[in-house]
Amino acid sequence: MNVLIIGAGMYVTGRNNTGPGTVLASLCEISKKIPLERVTIAAKNPANQQLVQDRISEINRKIGSDLRADYVTLGEDVDIEISKVNSRGPHHCAIVAIPDHLHYAYTRALLRNKIHCLLVKPFTPTVEEAVDLIKIQEEEGLHGAVELHKRFDESNLYAKRIIEEGVLGQLLYSTVEYSQRITIPLTVFRSWAEKSNIFQYLTVHYVDLIYYLTGFKPVRAMAIGTYGMLKQNGVNTFDSVHATVLWQNPMRPENIMVSQFASNWIDPETTTALSDQKYKVVGTRGRLELDQKHRGVELVTEGRGPEAVNPYFSEFLFHPDTGLSFNGYAYQSIQRFILDIIDIRTDPSRLEYLKDHRPSFRQALVSTAVIEAVNQSLIRQGEWRVIHAKF
Ligand SMILES: NC(=O)c1ccc[n+]([C@@H]2O[C@H](COP(=O)([O-])OP(=O)(O)OC[C@H]3O[C@@H](n4cnc5c(N)ncnc54)[C@H](O)[C@@H]3O)[C@@H](O)[C@H]2O)c1
Repeated sequence: MNVLIIGAGMYVTGRNNTGPGTVLASLCEISKKIPLERVTIAAKNPANQQLVQDRISEINRKIGSDLRADYVTLGEDVDIEISKVNSRGPHHCAIVAIPDHLHYAYTRALLRNKIHCLLVKPFTPTVEEAVDLIKIQEEEGLHGAVELHKRFDESNLYAKRIIEEGVLGQLLYSTVEYSQRITIPLTVFRSWAEKSNIFQYLTVHYVDLIYYLTGFKPVRAMAIGTYGMLKQNGVNTFDSVHATVLWQNPMRPENIMVSQFASNWIDPETTTALSDQKYKVVGTRGRLELDQKHRGVELVTEGRGPEAVNPYFSEFLFHPDTGLSFNGYAYQSIQRFILDIIDIRTDPSRLEYLKDHRPSFRQALVSTAVIEAVNQSLIRQGEWRVIHAKF
């Protein structure tokens, strides 16, 4: 299996004290079980070359893997560059981990080179781009999925079972609070934070999760934002975004559920975790609350003070045979994609099944439609926006 990774930033290699990264470490772990003959990492900055090689050696040493990868520096023209990278030997699949506004152009080029794609969230910021990618993917007979890893978190799988069994009764509302440290927009994503916002970059995870848990379809959305720290520090985007989304039960159209999302990316550096996150779902017969930050593991050291650790997301864990392994729900999500590509290569009819049973491009259109409506409402000072996309 030959894998192409587009991007060599925080989510691929881990940077700026944000943890070990997810994509490279996951591929190293996967390579212990599945032969990955060729792995190519392509990004913009030639300085990434050494960093990527150092990071792979470090991970290989830690978990006893033996992954090798080439690094390629990309030029300006996306279509030419992707064809050039692929002509070095075709890649069977790609993992796209670059800033939100670039997802469309790179994924379109990859699909046209007949490469199955896994995109980090958000799928795309606009419905028009998402619909075009779905069209190309289906025409080319390829698998397209979005790395919406909260679907692999066991606490959310428990929530899905409870909701599907009707334990909460008729669903009425849900609330989500999600925030990250200010270093993310000020340092890690400084070059592109203004082209995104906290809802599009982060809260999208929970928009998808509400859809996944309930099967409800979004019909209207509105949002307002606040400015403060980021503008003062030269990054022209909202500190926080507050969105309300109305969802309809497709089985009983009179059943409308309201979800409210409060999100920021200006948490102090001293907060005890990179991500602070919790959600609640309320129905006529019960309430389900999930604290997704406090997983019951706290580490206190002299250097860093208290840390609320989430060992279930994307972590090196003890392993009785290899010393350490890389695991977590983000790892599971990437491994699922690689296994799906192996399945498709032996049985192309599997593609049809994956459309409905994975965070496929088709399913991710739902969260993109909400992002688009929220972004439009933010520009129009909180005006309600109807969601017209066909899901
Ligand atoms: N799923 C998650 O939990 C999660 C976490 C972090 C980031 N992300 C998503 O991953 C994406 C990238 O995030 P990151 O943390 O790696 O960001 P980053 O800013 O750390 O890295 C961005 C990477 O993109 C490359 N890049 C920038 N412009 C490019 C261009 N024009 N052409 C090709 N490559 C280019 C850079 O060289 C860099 O390697 C974003 O869409 C973000 O929303 C997802």
